[in-house]
Amino acid sequence: MAGFEDAAARWNGRYAAEGFLFGTAPNDVLAAQAALFAPGDRVLCVADGEGRNATWLAGRSCAVTAFDISEVGLRKAAALATERGVAVDARLASVDTWGWDDPACGAPFDAVVAVFVQFATPSQRAAMFEGFARALRPGGVLLLVGYGPLQMTYRTGGPGILEHLYDEVMLREAFAGWRIERLHRAQRTLSEGAGHDGMSDVLELVARRP
Ligand SMILES: C[S@@+](CC[C@H](N)C(=O)[O-])C[C@H]1O[C@@H](n2cnc3c(N)ncnc32)[C@H](O)[C@@H]1O
Repeated sequence: MAGFEDAAARWNGRYAAEGFLFGTAPNDVLAAQAALFAPGDRVLCVADGEGRNATWLAGRSCAVTAFDISEVGLRKAAALATERGVAVDARLASVDTWGWDDPACGAPFDAVVAVFVQFATPSQRAAMFEGFARALRPGGVLLLVGYGPLQMTYRTGGPGILEHLYDEVMLREAFAGWRIERLHRAQRTLSEGAGHDGMSDVLELVARRP
């Protein structure tokens, strides 16, 4: 489990500082896509860190399951949920071992939300994308947000590893057979705490599982 422990230690260290590394507001793409999420929808938030996205969805009366590898992040997420008076089923887990299609892990879901999950290597990413399909019911929706290759120049957030980033061709190939409702890329300013701050290359994907 060295991979788990290394990643957990790294992220626990990043989240140990005072405050919320990516802020407490939901990611702006998620907020803009609010209409995708109806009250009562079962939503899985992948690697949700300090809980900004999961708590926002729970505040919109979704039934939210979230997981992350960082227990420090999860503690902050729990505090944020308490402050907002919402409930999130939050678990300590890695994408590598998450029970994507396991009813004990909340499956099947109406929606999967994966915002800046670019810790994933190409092989981890392929398995994770396959996991999204297993977690969703047919017709369920995936909202994926992440950095594109120009982020290597901007260096305003993200892993700084080119092969972890997305581009349009990669996403179209990865989700071939899904109904792609939106695939958008923009160079724009992000202001999400100290972690994502400044001009950024951002891709957004909304796709429905066949
Ligand atoms: C850039 S942060 C994004 C957090 C959150 N999605 C957000 O938008 O605020 C990446 C997150 O991935 C988590 N993470 C890293 N490796 C992981 C893994 N193998 N499995 C699950 N989560 C992981 C980190 O703890 C961190 O919370």
